[in-house]
Amino acid sequence: MDQQQSRGRDVFRSGLGAFAATVGSAVGLGNIWRFPYDTGRGGGAAFVLTYVLCVALVGLPVMVAEHAIGRRMRRNAVHVYESLLPSKGTGTAIGYVGLVAAVLIMAFYTDVAGWVFAYVFKSLGALAHGVALGPADFESLSSGTWEPLLWQAGVLSLASVIIALGVSNGIERVTKMLMPVLFLLLVVCDVRALTLPGSGSGVSYLFKPDLSKLSGPVLLSALGLAFFKLSLGIGAMTTYGSYLPENTRIVPNAARVVLADTAVSLLAGLAIFPALFALGGQPSGGPGLLFITIPLVFSKMPMGGLFTTLFFVLAATATIGAMVSIMEVPVAWFTERTHVSRLRASVVTAAVMFGVGVLATLSRGPVLSGVKIFGKSFFDLFIYLSNLLLPLGGLAITVAAGWLLPQGEFSAEIAKGHVMPGAIHALMGVLVRFLAPVLIVIVLLMSLWGR
Ligand code: TRP
Repeated sequence: MDQQQSRGRDVFRSGLGAFAATVGSAVGLGNIWRFPYDTGRGGGAAFVLTYVLCVALVGLPVMVAEHAIGRRMRRNAVHVYESLLPSKGTGTAIGYVGLVAAVLIMAFYTDVAGWVFAYVFKSLGALAHGVALGPADFESLSSGTWEPLLWQAGVLSLASVIIALGVSNGIERVTKMLMPVLFLLLVVCDVRALTLPGSGSGVSYLFKPDLSKLSGPVLLSALGLAFFKLSLGIGAMTTYGSYLPENTRIVPNAARVVLADTAVSLLAGLAIFPALFALGGQPSGGPGLLFITIPLVFSKMPMGGLFTTLFFVLAATATIGAMVSIMEVPVAWFTERTHVSRLRASVVTAAVMFGVGVLATLSRGPVLSGVKIFGKSFFDLFIYLSNLLLPLGGLAITVAAGWLLPQGEFSAEIAKGHVMPGAIHALMGVLVRFLAPVLIVIVLLMSLWGR
């Protein structure tokens, strides 16, 4: 049966391939763009601490739940819910919420990814002219009309081509090679930033929490970021779970992904905030933080222009694995439900995502900047809605894995491939069945109060 149901989809060929694809999905703009941006908005270390707790206590168990249930059922996320819930209609509805979240995320993700790709070329141009990119370059790009739209259309097309071809070969190989290079380059940035005079206050900003900064909305944004970072809550990891080889050890694999991903975010934070404090910038600089700070940090180094270009090339590469995993959710569902080709499914998915993405992109420029919904631009609204929908999706998947799957199946699934110490087994059970769902509910309720 398993064979039958996974036919026509990719299956990761090895444990390493599965790890690489999961890391490739997790590491992306979330680490280098959104983590610093949210940290700056959330007031620094108190946000970082909350974020790390959300990752450990909620993110890890939700990832385990998604992988376990995906592999157990060998189905796409919508079909998982349809077959587990007592009422098929409710299952379909929950699954569709994940599809909607995928569209909302791609709407702003492709906007920002477009800026990253544009920056590869802009930094090359700056290099050729011997100048450094400044805040005005970011402003003119992100608040434009046609330029950001073209880049957005470009990255969506690129992601669709890869999706249409299938996930396994090229992309897996490329990310496997480039991720370590990104890691190294971040370390270079860190060393430069941390040796600037005055960088110490940036380090305290990141690591010395002022707990009075915590509030319901800050908690929600930390929880939302934890889900976003680890690609959880829309069924992407459920779908990837359905491609996992039987002998992949789900808990250690997820733990490694979570550690690697969190390390990359902290390295990015350690490059950006110390430099910002040393060079006199604003931590609450908004979505342009990355694009303004990184060229600035590198401009203080020999061959800085070259490093800036390299940085954006790697950042652009990192967006690909992430975008592919977001698109895979609707595409897997679409192809399995209607038996259309992957190519068709990708084109339709990309068209829908572009349609919504245009709203996010134009909301920063003259065309739609005046339009506010609940006081938020489309760009901010999509981020806010995803902060709500992803934890709700996480709640659904922990309930599905911990309570709806026949007794013992979840345990059996995570025990495959190794002898797991009893304590870890029991801990995972408690996290998935009780702690993670309860924490999600508490944060969602607190965020309603705190407004
Ligand atoms: N984790 C990715 C990043 O940090 C974004 C991402 C990929 C994502 N797949 C996802 C977010 C699924 C939510 C759901 O850039």
